[in-house]
Amino acid sequence: CGIVGYIGKRDVAPLLLEGLQRLEYRGYDSAGIVVTSPKAAGLKMVKAKGRVRDLEARVPKRFAGTTGIAHTRWATHGAPSDVNAHPHLDPENKVAVVHNGIVDNAAELRAKLEAEGVVFASETDTEVITHLIARSQADSLEEKVREALKHIEGTYGIAVMHADFNDRIVVARNGSPVVLGIGEKEMFVASDVAALVTHTRQVVTLDDGEMATLKADDFRTYTTSGASTNATPETVEWEAASYDMGGHDTYMHKEISEQPDAVDRVLRGRIDDRFSTVHLGGLNLDAREARSIRRIKILGCGTSYHAGLIGASLIEGMARIPADAEPASEFRYRNPVVDPDTLYIAVSQSGETYDVLAAVQELKRKGARVLGVVNVVGSAIAREADGGVYVHAGPEVCVVSTKCFTNTVVAFALLALHLGRIRDLSVTDGKRIIEGLRKLPGQIEEILKSEDEIEKLAAEYAGAQSMMFIGRVRGYPVALEASLKLKEISYIHAEAYPASELKHGPLALIEPALPTVAIVPDDDLLEKNRAALEEIKARSGRILAVAHQPQEKADHTIVVPKNEDELDPILMGIPLQLFAYHTALAMGRDIDKPRNLAKSVTVE
Ligand code: G6P
Repeated sequence: CGIVGYIGKRDVAPLLLEGLQRLEYRGYDSAGIVVTSPKAAGLKMVKAKGRVRDLEARVPKRFAGTTGIAHTRWATHGAPSDVNAHPHLDPENKVAVVHNGIVDNAAELRAKLEAEGVVFASETDTEVITHLIARSQADSLEEKVREALKHIEGTYGIAVMHADFNDRIVVARNGSPVVLGIGEKEMFVASDVAALVTHTRQVVTLDDGEMATLKADDFRTYTTSGASTNATPETVEWEAASYDMGGHDTYMHKEISEQPDAVDRVLRGRIDDRFSTVHLGGLNLDAREARSIRRIKILGCGTSYHAGLIGASLIEGMARIPADAEPASEFRYRNPVVDPDTLYIAVSQSGETYDVLAAVQELKRKGARVLGVVNVVGSAIAREADGGVYVHAGPEVCVVSTKCFTNTVVAFALLALHLGRIRDLSVTDGKRIIEGLRKLPGQIEEILKSEDEIEKLAAEYAGAQSMMFIGRVRGYPVALEASLKLKEISYIHAEAYPASELKHGPLALIEPALPTVAIVPDDDLLEKNRAALEEIKARSGRILAVAHQPQEKADHTIVVPKNEDELDPILMGIPLQLFAYHTALAMGRDIDKPRNLAKSVTVE
């Protein structure tokens, strides 16, 4: 979900609606806004099920105010609807709350409040916060919020307005991001800098357990127990323009196209030709410590998990450290054995996915060493980790990840090379990998040139009910990610299998109506992969291969440039991003905002 708030002199509704548009990738099933001004009596609110544009259509012409908070929602408790949309007001229209996160003890608190005669308007967990604040007898808004939060178990990023204290907005954070934007005689708050950067690049990121009071010309930060924290603003690294669509029809297309530059950025300043290795400044791991690692465990969700799978194979291959990846969402619930000689690596584009953050916190509590491979600088996971590698992909707005996936895998290649050169990787191999890495931006550029051809292929496959993706060893995570991309944005059912497992079951599905996308790199497994194509062809299956040379058994081959065997997976996924994109486009899908999904899942 996305939060945005403003206090200053400007007309607040247009500002907040624009901010919500920029946060819409965080959730888009309903939205709402509440405004007031120092002279106004009371709060004015509008809410709507649907997109921000549906809310905009409902905001009346006369909706003046200079203070306001707004929200775009991704439903957890209670279906998307007008009433369940945030903000949530108390029956007297005094208190307004927008909230990201989940109140774990909402049912219990609700029952208690209902027994005391409180009537709830919505089914949300958030509304309990509103009533608790409204019922507090404390003298200040800060104290009322503090009292209310004492009862709350769970996660929150909240922004609160009160009709009797309309010179301020009070915000608090526990587990869900809250960023203050510091302007000239105006202050902003948002769950993401994306909503702030067009107005100010001076930001304060709140810590868990921290609160803030925003007034038009002043802000103050303090802990939930009231002690001042005196946070000072930092400057955001990313330019406002990098959040725009820049001439493309969708963010996804823009982000796919940006990959040559993005990869260039993750490499920049890190390669050390003298020792055929790379420098990773933020790793916080000296050579002795690196040598003592016995295992590496990589944790992430969705696309980041897939990047972690490739990362594990890069590390195992180059550094010869046993490594594997697991969905963070599974790991944290299975009481894993936490081993002091294992290095844990958390992967997350946003740096705020709750399942990943919770896994990191549990690991740290048990004394493990955790690194982060993260895109958003200063995000919760980056801050929680002991060190790590930023992937420098720039802001990614489309709900599904493309450039960030690629950059994350490249970051893993750098880490693998670094660890490898401390351990057993030879200078010659180090040089070979570095040359390969340097070729990547140009080779990605070359792949992007085949977009027209891929578009035609996509039109041909767009009618399929279901598709199979196969790859072997290094190619398998590529198949997994390509199938995820296709299902996320086209809603075509897709599954990925190791090519080697075909004959152990899924071959039963193969028929002309089920096309297969096969990853066929020109490496030591080429013949094995060709055998899988034969098996499919013998059952009259249609095949689209991604390979380094045309495949005789395939109906179509997308030919990609060859790199070093280890780095080939980075390139082989890229045409399949375009394939998913054009398939979804041919089917008329809303590519940047696929149904039921949100980019940052800050809840369990
Ligand atoms: C959500 C998104 C996915 C993303 C995953 C992990 O589920 O819909 O596209 O891969 O979160 O996000 P992260 O920011 O941690 O990489």
